[in-house]
Amino acid sequence: METIALLRDKRVILGVCGSIAAYKAVDLASKLTQAGAQIDVVLTAAAQRFVSPLTFQALSGRPVYSDLWSAGSASGLPSHIAHIGLAEEADLLLVAPATANTLAKLAHGFADDLLSITALAISCPLLIAPAMDGNMYDSPAVQDNCETLRRRGAHLIEPEEGRFASGMVGTGRLPETETLLGHIRRVIGRDGELASHKLVVTAGGTRESIDPVRFITNRSTGKQGYAIAQAAVDAGADVVLISSAAGLPTPIGATLVAVDSAESMREAVLANVADSSALIMAAAVADYRPQTVSEQKIKKSDDSLNLPLTRTADILMAVKAQRARTGYPMIAVGFAAESENLVENASDKLQSKGLDLLIANDITATDAGFAADANRVVVLDMDGGLHHIDRTSKAEIGAYIIERIGGLLD
Ligand code: CTP
Repeated sequence: METIALLRDKRVILGVCGSIAAYKAVDLASKLTQAGAQIDVVLTAAAQRFVSPLTFQALSGRPVYSDLWSAGSASGLPSHIAHIGLAEEADLLLVAPATANTLAKLAHGFADDLLSITALAISCPLLIAPAMDGNMYDSPAVQDNCETLRRRGAHLIEPEEGRFASGMVGTGRLPETETLLGHIRRVIGRDGELASHKLVVTAGGTRESIDPVRFITNRSTGKQGYAIAQAAVDAGADVVLISSAAGLPTPIGATLVAVDSAESMREAVLANVADSSALIMAAAVADYRPQTVSEQKIKKSDDSLNLPLTRTADILMAVKAQRARTGYPMIAVGFAAESENLVENASDKLQSKGLDLLIANDITATDAGFAADANRVVVLDMDGGLHHIDRTSKAEIGAYIIERIGGLLD
């Protein structure tokens, strides 16, 4: 796993309680460390019945805390008053899994172990992922405690539905690491550079129907657009992701608008950019669609089949006209997929579509681009500036684009 720019050197206190889901906190501790965060793990007494402090210590490379009463350098605690030392430096306190008992303690201000006392001492955000078996999560007592915590500004992660260790089925399962990481990013990034800005991102290749079973599409998978949407969430933006891509997880915190054809994407874009700070058109929009969509499945008959195609509307050109009238979106960013004369063709698109930035892709590259996790691009701006980004992850390119948009909005 590569590091996540937002999490690099962030201090996260990971509070783990005594739930069978504690094993998932082990994976989370590992992924957070790989992402570049410094984690201080605090285990409750019950948690230690499920997982050993040594497991977390080995994964985080840092001491693990559990005993309120053994403060001091001998136990590796960061200050002679443990909870104050931990709380002072923290960017986030995450309690995962949070048991019904710890939720009750946090809701009512109890301070009888290192985790509950640390929760009272922090000034950073508190993110809580409840996990419990059977009908416990639905009980009025637990629900009231969750509500109390929410009212006080804590962020709660809704547990998932599924089968419990007991064999019962219900709501109470701790989400998987990827989901937990998404919530962590949303909470840590929320006051970022783009806080209070709405960003609209498009992603994926559009699908133009031929008949009820067939459509025309292209090789775009949407990965670059989703990486941009995640980078925008990391920067604190309100993100609307207009996507025709299939099978990619929506970044936590982004609002997904699912579309399929170029026309449905055009409608969604024009409606959503009306009050937005920036539009990033990463989608690969079809230039042509079948002239008519057959209501019935087209049967094979002759040796060849002619399928008349007609032009779709150019979404960025429609946005340019709307922007000239209304001033929104404040910034427009486009992509260019080119197989020859990369910079010349891209520069023409930047001018004709009235863009502030254009990200040009050489689609002939075999080690980057379509479906890959890596990309290699040239970024053009309206002042004639050119910035080459050598082969790197789509996440890094997404972060770069968001940084440039931040600069333009300044
Ligand atoms: N685009 C658009 N509407 C279309 C086609 C493309 O808004 N109907 C956007 C894409 O999302 C991208 C930019 O325009 O941001 C350039 O797309 P690209 O496919 O590279 O170029 P086209 O404008 O379609 O021109 P050509 O296919 O002739 O290269």
